[in-house]
Amino acid sequence: MKTFYKLKFTYPLLASLIVVACGGVPEEKAELQGEENVFSVEEVLEMVSKENDVTRTLYTKAIVGKGKLQGMKFDEDWRKDKVEAGPLPALFLRGVATSIKRGPVPLGLYLGSDHPVNAANKFEGKQAELFEQIKKDQEPQFFYDDSQKLHTAMFADLASAGACVTCHNDHPQTTKSDWKLGDVMGATTWQYPKDSLTYKETVAVLNSYAKGTVDIYMEYLDEIEHFKESEKPEIGDKWPQDGKYLPTAEVFLDSVKKLSSYETMKHLVSLNKK
Ligand code: HEC
Repeated sequence: MKTFYKLKFTYPLLASLIVVACGGVPEEKAELQGEENVFSVEEVLEMVSKENDVTRTLYTKAIVGKGKLQGMKFDEDWRKDKVEAGPLPALFLRGVATSIKRGPVPLGLYLGSDHPVNAANKFEGKQAELFEQIKKDQEPQFFYDDSQKLHTAMFADLASAGACVTCHNDHPQTTKSDWKLGDVMGATTWQYPKDSLTYKETVAVLNSYAKGTVDIYMEYLDEIEHFKESEKPEIGDKWPQDGKYLPTAEVFLDSVKKLSSYETMKHLVSLNKK
């Protein structure tokens, strides 16, 4: 829990720094206090999607990829009592989505494909249509989903690590067995009810994603705690590339922030130049 409280303040701290740095300009007050709508929903979903790309690649490569070399296991049934393993990358993402759904921020997240391993992840309707375009140019797609009354954004999910390709090609339930590195394997779909967001709402979206990451990662560490037969990796500040180690949730999220927050911060700070 300690970790979580610390993390919660990352973005608000940034916000207050900006306010302090630019204080004393009355006209800009409402904006700086975060009450004015300053970001379009597209911009915000793009920001959170970038954070997700970094988190997903880090988890896939540094935890799953390197962890496997140390004998750590990752399984789709990782939550079952008898299975002593961690979540696969797609299930890590679903864990983030579940945590966001439980919280107060109305942000939706879903990972789909036209050739899914799990039939429940198959795109339908408008999303299936737009996915065809994403496969061609890898550009994000935005639309307003009338039936759900939600602004929707879709971003390519690329085979960024060898592990993505081999695992999907070899999976017993696979519907396609010739995936290659760099292929568009699917897309993340993000949804939000409003067309523009205040500064505060934007920060809340980013925080809810970061909290989701910590929640699912902590569930994984908790699972390890209950291993009866498998060797337990040592949890601290080291990574699987150095041996039978796993980073704490705090160390994991710190790395995500180092890799991604520069872009996000540039975006948030650029407001003050208007
Ligand atoms: C060790 C196996 C494994 C690895 C590694 C893996 N996946 Fe998956 N992936 C799965 C399984 C199993 C599912 C279905 C999970 C579910 O929803 O039940 C899945 C689901 C998905 C989905 C949703 C559509 C579908 O196939 O059900 C996409 C898209 C996807 N993975 C892309 C990737 C990408 C990109 C990577 C690498 C960054 C990756 N996967 C790494 C096994 C794997």
